[in-house]
Formats: sequence, structure tokens, C-alpha cells
Amino acid sequence: MCGIVGYIGKQKASAIILEGLKRLEYRGYDSAGIAIQQAGRFEVAKKTGRVEGLIKATPAQKITGTTGIGHTRWATHGGVTDANAHPHVSSDGKIALIHNGVIENYASIKKFLLPKGYTFQSETDTEVLCNLIAYHYQKEPDVKEASRFLESVRKSLRHVEGTYGIAVMCGDCPAEIVSARKGSPLILGVGDGELMLASDVAAIISRTQNVVYLKDGELLHMTAKNFSITTLEAEDVSPVVDKITWKIEDSELNGHAHFMEKEIFEQPAALENTMRGRFSEDGSTAQFGGLNISAVDLRQVDRFHLLACGSAWHACLVTEHLIERFARVPVEVDYASEFRYRNMPLGNNTLFLTVSQSGETIDTLAAMREAKRKGYKVLAINNVVGSSIAREADGGVYQHVGPEIGVASTKAFTSQLLVGAMLALYLGRMRDMSFSDGAEYVKALKGVPDLVRQALEQAPHIKEIARRYAHYHDFLFLGRLSLFPVALEGALKLKEISYIHAEGYPAAEMKHGPIALISEQCPSVFFVPSGEMFNKVVSSMQEIKARKGKIIAVATDKCDLPAGLADEVIRIPECHEAVLPIVATVPVQLLSYYIAVELKRDVDKPRNLAKSVTVE
Ligand code: F6R
Repeated sequence: MCGIVGYIGKQKASAIILEGLKRLEYRGYDSAGIAIQQAGRFEVAKKTGRVEGLIKATPAQKITGTTGIGHTRWATHGGVTDANAHPHVSSDGKIALIHNGVIENYASIKKFLLPKGYTFQSETDTEVLCNLIAYHYQKEPDVKEASRFLESVRKSLRHVEGTYGIAVMCGDCPAEIVSARKGSPLILGVGDGELMLASDVAAIISRTQNVVYLKDGELLHMTAKNFSITTLEAEDVSPVVDKITWKIEDSELNGHAHFMEKEIFEQPAALENTMRGRFSEDGSTAQFGGLNISAVDLRQVDRFHLLACGSAWHACLVTEHLIERFARVPVEVDYASEFRYRNMPLGNNTLFLTVSQSGETIDTLAAMREAKRKGYKVLAINNVVGSSIAREADGGVYQHVGPEIGVASTKAFTSQLLVGAMLALYLGRMRDMSFSDGAEYVKALKGVPDLVRQALEQAPHIKEIARRYAHYHDFLFLGRLSLFPVALEGALKLKEISYIHAEGYPAAEMKHGPIALISEQCPSVFFVPSGEMFNKVVSSMQEIKARKGKIIAVATDKCDLPAGLADEVIRIPECHEAVLPIVATVPVQLLSYYIAVELKRDVDKPRNLAKSVTVE
């Protein structure tokens, strides 16, 4: 949600920043802009639309400055206009600022600044902060010249309520950038004779693998020669330089039309990486290096509370089913955004688990902090190493699927399902699951990459179906037990990238209302497993058929569907129930993807969305 890039070095800043913005564009794509220090003034270019448009409109050869900042916006305060695009420059021309987050008390700050002569060109909260910094900068002649800029930012931030990741430049300090974070991610890249600042590693991996993760309440002061980190209270912080393991190729299309397509087809390898080194030597259970909770303490846990948003929340619903089924421990699943305000009664031996691909989703982070404030241990399943949630958790599991750039989650979702299935196994083996059942479960998990590969082989068939169904305006996705959350995920994938209305329901619930939607104009996607649920699901399909509803069945190989019941059948391999949700997800990822392509949607950057929701 908004991408930030900053650069100080010997190269032309504009080209490096624009390249960084292109890689961060999935965080927001309403508008983009840059400000470069140019012979004692700011050269600013900003524009609604994509970074590509900004690149075309920016006379890069004329902008030769080597210090600059850039921003790609997901609008919060103020519409999508050129004026509201970042960077913002203070009305006295001294300060330029980019911001990711929300300044909640911007109205009272604006009221304070207006009588002092500050004027505003935009409707944004960001421009207010920019002018507040300018005000403190002008007002502090007593502060030593060398630190006046830094102190004006520090002082301003003490008056700010809300969240921010900011990068600020001052016209009087041509080779300096000050940045700070509270609730929005910021990473410093330490390169060879250059420093970079970004919202995430994607923007900097082409230049350096050495990074410092800034923490909330820290200010970073970058100069051409050095950098220093202090707190809002002006205490020194010793930086820890980490090494990024992702490679530049991980964030490139490598011949695919879209990142979503690439990430769907990467799943066999991604899931292999999620599992690597995580099974016991005797092959009967899972093992995790970073849980930071002993087996003895885990045995005392009598309830798990899972917190997440969006697709990650769907993954939690599947995990709930598996932990309850295989470990016999009750599980509660909450939307993180609701949990943080619910103040529900909680037991003493509850263990919290947050699930977040980015590790930066603000609601999940806040819910985690709320659980910790109440004295609970919180574990986290994350993909992004060093993310805020990963750092604040008491322990957890990294997904290791590489960067996920398509806005619609695919490989990260199936990997969250896999980690959930592995946790259910681990917890189950600590309780009543036998050695042989554990061994069979492990065998099933190890087979996942191959099962997903088989599911992917249906791609040409699914593409054909997508072509025939792309013109429908409503879809139902129906499944039972652990396939109900997969139905929710299928509906979410379809609506977010194709803008087709879709709803997910437990198949039997359909009779309690949604069946009113059924007509020839509203197809249903059914998840059909063999086994005890087969006949029940078939009955639900009959009810749809009786009302002339079209049916697309995602059915396991052994399902002997009555002739003519389903209009389309997508086969998936038979598999252990713990891995079925993973395998069943693949066809609906492909169906949504091909429908969106058929409709010529902007698959990787669907309207109104952004990856990593860092505002409430
Ligand atoms: C949907 C999607 C979102 C995310 C949600 C949580 O395709 O990607 O619903 O799952 O915004 O994001 P993370 O997992 O980063 O916390």
C-alpha cells in the first residue's frame, strides 16, 4: 500500500528510483512521482496512473541529481489526481516528502499551520506533515545547523498520530534524506558507495543484498557518506545489517504474461521450498526450527486463536479444520481487523497464530500487538523475512516461496495451507496421532508438489472453460468442510481480478438463501471430493441443476459423477484429506486467471487493490 524509494549515491537518482518504483508498483498504482535534488532546488515530476506513464513524462536526461525520493500511491486521503500524488513540497519550497500511511490528526495540524501562512495544493494528509516539518525547520534557529533538518522531522513526528513510512528531503541539505517509520515498512539498502531506502526489498535487490530493517519509532538519517539511526526520543540505535536471500530473477516475469500466471505455475517448486528440512528423521512428523516454544509448553495449549485477513484468513479456516481434526485442539479463527476491537474473553492456555504473506498487513500487526498486550504468546506464518510481524512474533514459520508480486495471492496461499497442514500433523503427533498415521500423513505432504503439478496439467482444459464462462456476471463457489474455505478463496480470486461478482458458501448452506440467485445466468463451481461427502455434494448439485443452474465441478479422480449433472468437469488427483484443499485450489486459481485474461483485465494490478494493506 504505497511504495517508497529513496537514493543517495553517485549515480543519477531518477533512473534508479523509477526502476525501484516499477518493482514496487504492486503496492499501489493510482499515481507515481519523484523529487530529485537538483542544483539547490527540487525537480518534481508526478502523475496519475502507472509508473510507466511517469517514466515517459520525465525528462530523465535533464535530471542529473544524485539524491532523490519516489513514490507509487494507493490513495487514502484525497482522490486520484496529479495534485494529490506524492512527493509533496512545503509551501515555502524547503521540504519534499513522500509518505505511506495515514496521518490521523492532519486536520488539527492543518488548522495550526493555516494562520501561520502555510498553504496547501492538495487534499492529502501528507502535505500537512510536509508543511509541519517546514514549520519546525524554520522555527529552530537554536538547533545546530548540521542537525536542524533531522531535528525538525523528529519534532514534527512527535505531534503526529497515525501511521507513516516517510522519506524527506530539505532544499538546504542537498545530499541528505531523513526517513522514519511507524506502522509502515521501511528498509535501508547499504550498497557500494550508495544508500537506498524502500518499502520492501523488491526495489533494492538489483543494487544490494545488504539491508537494515527499520523498526517503528526509528529515524534514519542518510547522507552521501554515511547513515545513522536514532529513536524518536533521540537515542542512538546500533544498526544490524542483514543479507537478503531473494534473487533479482525471483521478481521478474521470466517469460510469463503475468506474475499471477508465473506464481501459479511456480507452486510445485514453492511448496517444495516450504517443506524443505521440515520433517523428522523417522518420517512420522513435521519439525520447525523457529517456533520458540517447547513441546512441553505446546502440550499445555488448549486453544489456538488464528488471526489474518483476506486469503490468509481463508488459509486459517482450513488450518482450523485440520488442527481440530488431527490434533483435537479447539481453534478459533478471527479476522484480524475484528479481533483488535472485539475484546472477547480468552482462555489462559490459548496460543495465538497470525498468518500473513507480507508480514506488514496493518490489521494483522495490530491484532498481534493486542494479543501480546494481553499477555499471550503469538506465533506467525509469514513469507517476507524480516517483516514487521515476523520480527514482533514470539516465533513462527517462514513460508520460503520467494516474492509474491501478483496482487492476488496464489503460491503464498497454498503454502500457508501447507504450513497449516504441517502444524496440524506436528500437534497431532504430540497428542493422539499414531506413528503409522503420521508416516502416511508425511508421505501425503511430500507428494504435494507432484499433485499440484498434475492439477496444473488441466490448464488448457480450464482455459477453454474460462473462455465459455467469462461473460457471466455472477458465480457461486460451493464446498464442504475443508473445501468450504477453498470455495471462499475461489470466489475471492474471481472477483478481485475479473470484477465478476462471486460468493463462496458451504454447499449445504446454499439452500438457506443463495439458491435464490440460481438461474441459467449464475453458474456454480462445486468442489467434489470422493468419500463421505460425495453423495451430499451431489445432492446439492442436483438442486442447482433442477433450477437450470450451470455447474463446473472440480472433482477428484474417483468421483463417479452422474452423467450430465455437471456441465464441465475439472479433474484433480485423489489425495489425503490434509492436502486436498491445496490441490483443489489450483483449478480455481487457473479459472479466475484465464477468465480475467479473457476479459482483458489488468491481472497483476486489479483496480482499487494493492498488495500489502498497510493502512487500516
Ligand atoms: C487476496 C489477497 C489478500 C491478502 C490479504 C492479506 O488475493 O492477496 O486478500 O491475502 O490482504 O495479506 P497478507 O497475507 O500479506 O497479510
